[in-house]
Amino acid sequence: MPKLQEMMTIVSQREVASNIFEMVLKGELVEEMDLPGQFLHLAVPNANMLLRRPISISSWDKVAKTCTILYRIGDETSGTYDISKLQTGAKIDVMGPLGNGFPVDEVVSTDKILIVGGGIGVPPLYELAKQLEEKNCQMTILLGFASEKVKILEKEFAELKNVSLKIATDDGSYGTKGHVGMLMEEVDFEVDALYTCGAPAMLKAVAKKYDQLERLYISMESRMACGIGACYACVEHDKEDENHALKVCEDGPVFLGKQLLL
Ligand code: FAD
Ligand code: FES
Repeated sequence: MPKLQEMMTIVSQREVASNIFEMVLKGELVEEMDLPGQFLHLAVPNANMLLRRPISISSWDKVAKTCTILYRIGDETSGTYDISKLQTGAKIDVMGPLGNGFPVDEVVSTDKILIVGGGIGVPPLYELAKQLEEKNCQMTILLGFASEKVKILEKEFAELKNVSLKIATDDGSYGTKGHVGMLMEEVDFEVDALYTCGAPAMLKAVAKKYDQLERLYISMESRMACGIGACYACVEHDKEDENHALKVCEDGPVFLGKQLLL
């Protein structure tokens, strides 16, 4: 039976941008990681906080049995703040990998891929881009951040093959000034598949512009409790059947664009 929960070991933990931490975890759960876009459900090391925190897997290394997550911390009362205080060598209670990720099997080398990420929605797109690199397809990657201070993973994306990377910041402190939707306006090729993760307004803009695209994949965020489909805390509306609730934790977090009522 696949492993779903483990006390993983923290190999490293560091602040990589303002209030954004990168944590590398080691353990057997890495064996189960398959699709980019899946997430881990982390227990907070604080007995007063019972709910786990869902955090996307940003990348993994099966040989080293490690995976990397990037997460933004809240204020001193938040669970993510407590998680950021864990030191190298400490253990953390992890469930996962959970949810349905971005499909990559169907991608062929002639596909023109558009990846659109915003803020703390960017991390799962990195493992996706790594896997698409293996397919030798052309990738245009558009990333938006509030400012240069919270820009993440630029170097990692830029080092991949066949990538055209563009960055926008809301305040103009780096790259194009404005939101990532402005970069989308400059896309001048026919997109075969689009993958996106980020703030709701950005996802809505992507879904509107590419509403006719069959292979539009949107990763959704929602507040979660159980993380495994048992509590209905995380539901979204199904565009094709309004009486049907889509559970972000189990049916998602990645959905086909045509499924979602954004
Ligand atoms: P607290 O205020 O202590 O949280 C209180 C409660 O609200 C907790 O139960 C918490 O889980 C919930 N909550 C608060 N904000 C959110 C939110 N935006 N989404 C979901 N639950 C919330 N964040 C990252 O920084 N990096 C990631 O890679 C990442 N991936 C995610 C993947 C998925 C599938 C989902 C659903 C969310 C993801 N998030 C990610 C958002 C992250 O889970 C929340 O920011 C985090 O749970 C907030 O917890 P906290 O301890 O900082 O805040
Ligand atoms: Fe419980 Fe999704 S979080 S059903």
